Amino acid sequence: MFGDITTNPYHLETIIRSDMTRALRSLVPEMLEEARMAIPEHVKIHGAKNSVTVTLFPTMVRLVARVANRAMIGAPGCRNEKFLKKQVSVAEEVIPMSQILNWFPLFLRVAVWKLFCVTVGAKDGAVRLVTPYVQSRIDYAQQVWSCIAGLPFSHHVQDNPSTITDLLLRYAPEEDLKDVPKLAVRVVHLNMAAIHTSGIFITHALFELARMPSEQVEEIRAEIRAAIESEGGVCDKAAVDKFYKLDSLLKEIGRFHSLFAVSSSRVTLSEAAITDGTVLPAGSVVGFAPKPLHHNAQMYPDPYTFDPFRFAKLRTGENAARDITQSFTHLSNDYIVFGLGKHGCPGRFFAALMIKVVVSELLLNYDFAFPAGASQTPKSFAFNIFTVPNPSAKLVFTQRK
Ligand code: HEM
Repeated sequence: MFGDITTNPYHLETIIRSDMTRALRSLVPEMLEEARMAIPEHVKIHGAKNSVTVTLFPTMVRLVARVANRAMIGAPGCRNEKFLKKQVSVAEEVIPMSQILNWFPLFLRVAVWKLFCVTVGAKDGAVRLVTPYVQSRIDYAQQVWSCIAGLPFSHHVQDNPSTITDLLLRYAPEEDLKDVPKLAVRVVHLNMAAIHTSGIFITHALFELARMPSEQVEEIRAEIRAAIESEGGVCDKAAVDKFYKLDSLLKEIGRFHSLFAVSSSRVTLSEAAITDGTVLPAGSVVGFAPKPLHHNAQMYPDPYTFDPFRFAKLRTGENAARDITQSFTHLSNDYIVFGLGKHGCPGRFFAALMIKVVVSELLLNYDFAFPAGASQTPKSFAFNIFTVPNPSAKLVFTQRK
């Protein structure tokens, strides 16, 4: 579906092996600035009113698309509505299309996908619209570093990247730097992995906050304010890393709602026996079922109760802050929201930061409530192996004084 990116997935290196901490540190102020600009445009309160009702899931997906792209390609590209619209459609098309393609014999699939792309599909449009912004990052890198003679391009590309595309350039082979649409496909691919997944978490988080007793919401707010205060009033990565209660809320959302019915699918390369003695022939497809795992009462007492502070309470003792095993992004055999092992989601640190930046900004500026008469537990929408928040459920945002 996306050319040679699966056979040569160097763009995963941009997330996994680059100097992640440093990159994330410089991306947080960018994402925060974009969130501050974009939130009032997506949560539009008109005239003398102080509240507005929004259809939550699609609104949060659009907001995430913008904030994520501030990190992916920078400004002004992240504000190009045409590109963002196409980009959001890509994910909405690719998932059902991957199902439809399975109905065709193997030799026809490439042709069917290509036909779909040139007729109605959004992918080619998204690639075309993002290409100039990728080109401008190349131009910028060349301009800034042209004074350093004799080094390969990869060395020219920023020690302090301001976009994920900058990191992508660091790993791109020379021939891809001359074929910019090829690089743009990778940006579209990363975006596809980032937007809906993060939008789902933000939507669930706001629904949960609207349901929670106000004292608990205040506890989360107080911790956010204290963390920012402790960093000299600046909401930087160090501050966001101290939002433990929000981290716990997000982790509980992943546990309680489990996004996928089946996750972390793998193919056995040779015959393998599992602990109950079952022998799997080579070529078997194996997947994990997150829901039963995340509702295992031995691991999670009272598993069908949503407890926003379940994981924060486990961060006890002197090392509370450092107990990363209780953090949202920690991979374990009992928590597979981000998958498992070597192929566990490489974007999870970025996703967690972006979600926290957006949710904390919303929390500090708005109160949330369900519209009068609306269900407090809007039914999620399940298709295939995916579960997403109810796409038509609404939430009332009231501006805080
Ligand atoms: C809350 C947000 C996210 C969730 C819940 C999520 C979840 C997942 C899961 C379950 C997998 C499969 C892991 C496995 O097979 O064991 C995965 C893979 C992946 N994710 Fe994420 N993801 C999120 C955000 C992101 C973001 C923001 C990016 C990119 C910036 C990203 C990039 C990827 C990539 C490239 C893979 C494939 C890794 C590989 O095959 O080695 N994800 N993600």
